[in-house]
Amino acid sequence: MTHFGVTLSQYIMEEQRRYPDATGNFTLLLNDIAVSCKMIAAAVQKGQLANVLGATENENCQGETQQILDVIANDLFIKNNAKRGHVAAMASEEMDDVYPIPDGQPRGNYLLIFDPLDGSSNIEINGPIGTIFSILKTDKKHPTEADFLQEGVKQVCAGYCLYGSATMMVLTIGHGTHGFTLDPSIGEFILTHPDMKIPETTAEYAINQANRNLWEPPVRQYVDDCDLGVGGPRKKKYTMRWVGAMVMDIHRLIQRGGVFAYPMDSSLTQKGGRLRLMYEANPMAFLVEQAGGIATTGYERILNLTPQKLHQRVPVIMGSKEDMTILLDNHKAYASETDKEFKHQCPQYQ
Ligand code: AHG
Ligand code: MN
Ligand code: MN
Repeated sequence: MTHFGVTLSQYIMEEQRRYPDATGNFTLLLNDIAVSCKMIAAAVQKGQLANVLGATENENCQGETQQILDVIANDLFIKNNAKRGHVAAMASEEMDDVYPIPDGQPRGNYLLIFDPLDGSSNIEINGPIGTIFSILKTDKKHPTEADFLQEGVKQVCAGYCLYGSATMMVLTIGHGTHGFTLDPSIGEFILTHPDMKIPETTAEYAINQANRNLWEPPVRQYVDDCDLGVGGPRKKKYTMRWVGAMVMDIHRLIQRGGVFAYPMDSSLTQKGGRLRLMYEANPMAFLVEQAGGIATTGYERILNLTPQKLHQRVPVIMGSKEDMTILLDNHKAYASETDKEFKHQCPQYQ
């Protein structure tokens, strides 16, 4: 079947026309990211035929065993973006430190941040996995970690590529959240889901229930109320979905509504949370807000957090406006009874 749809490159070029001073570098950077994701998708689809499944003997700086695909995806992102002159430096969940563009190579003014392979525990079982990325700007030619520690509201672009039954790129550059499906027959991402909007009401949540006894009271209260079904305060039957790959759990939520939570729990206080602010929480929060949803730690808007370090972890709760408002109200009430500070501020919740 032939598509007459808009390709990802065409979409980005159209968007760039809004900025008369644009150099075209951003379009080229997005193209390089798209090429990286297509290469990862090709490796993912071959699976064990290409010997890409299984673990390496290495641990990343977060103490997690690296899977072969974590390393392949990371290397592809570095290789495709290091030599093109659009990027000043990169940071990855799989690398301890900032990756500077080597001396002698052209540097641009973008910082590229990525989780090369999200949902690593799904690799072996042929489950959905993805890549998450975020782009910031810098005027430094030799950026350090401190230059990356910008609030999420400063992101100029965020997106993910989902390697599911189809490969999809979903991205925002601050004008809505848009979905592109890879047509393998022509090797192009085609705009199939323009201006995705998260339904405001939902009866579906995604959370790792095995941590139930460890959650803070406001989250337990929300889930308890949902689980009471039609006879409970929510007066409807809820269902629970949990893929264990944030990229898939968030994609489902953007498509049909829901709540995704990896909240603070008593086993995570030392770490600060489970998910990573720079590689996971910030890009997903940007995408969710641009699709009309809310993204919070429970107490503060994720996009307003000032990052303290590259590999910082944070609690994450995001999704449909109606249920997120209930979750935020629960946190607000709990904060007023304890010594916690509630300062979530965003246009969707005042
Ligand atoms: P990654 O594979 O990049 O380490 O991220 C996995 C994350 C996230 O995608 C998912 O929601 C969460 O880890 C699942 O964690 P648990 O299996 O501990 O619940
Ligand atoms: Mn991840
Ligand atoms: Mn990862």
